[in-house]
Amino acid sequence: MQTKIYTNYETLSAAVAQIMFDTIQQKPNAVICLASGHTPLLPCQLFVQKANDEHLHISETTFIGLDEWVAVPPENEGSCHYFLYNTIFNPLILQAGQIHVFNSMAEDLNAECETMDAVIEHNGGIDLMIVGIGMNGHIGFNEPGVAFNNLSHVIELDKTTIEVGQKYFPAATTLSRGITIGLQHLMNAKQVLLIANGEKKASIIKKTIEEEVSNQIPATIMQTHSNGMIMIDAAAASQLSKNYLYEV
Ligand code: F6R
Repeated sequence: MQTKIYTNYETLSAAVAQIMFDTIQQKPNAVICLASGHTPLLPCQLFVQKANDEHLHISETTFIGLDEWVAVPPENEGSCHYFLYNTIFNPLILQAGQIHVFNSMAEDLNAECETMDAVIEHNGGIDLMIVGIGMNGHIGFNEPGVAFNNLSHVIELDKTTIEVGQKYFPAATTLSRGITIGLQHLMNAKQVLLIANGEKKASIIKKTIEEEVSNQIPATIMQTHSNGMIMIDAAAASQLSKNYLYEV
């Protein structure tokens, strides 16, 4: 794992967008797995702009949504579906067959998980995975205590996730379970970027990078990924001990 520190959210986002662009340019049929949330907003916007401006050949690329709130419908603006379609899938004008997201309204959520695992396998695995980090160290909805060898699964959400998750919704929303790509998929992915910005992430970023690997802080699994990169801005890096500082 490498850690890269950028001056601010804008330079961090431009670097993430460039990696997305390069990955698809080098491998047009790449499989890209994306988180939603506040952190990936600007990286996705910059990527869309660059891909459209430079006519990136994107019709063979497969996009996978990392996770979804169970029982939150896709038209709800706090859903992961809403974010991904509005920020990236619709502006890129992708074909439906290129997009795979969990249907968290489905009656059989285990079948949703099996379908997602089969899609990933059928397409030869994930080439690039871009994830955020929760205030409790979750990745996707891999909450504290999760098994590191899980594939896609349904999980009870942690109290912190339920509280912090309200920020995405216009009105108070009942959140209880999530459906998510598992950490075994993250370990199998050819490249993983964990991105974070802002001072509010500084404490969990310090734990993620400096503490022992433990499922109590799921993001510590990044330490064991041979092609994993933690990309953060200076504010999110502000609590790191000197030994862990790598400026770019
Ligand atoms: C969302 C997701 C979550 C977020 C994390 C950080 O799809 O997978 O794990 O990445 O909670 O969210 P933000 O970026 O809003 O701080």
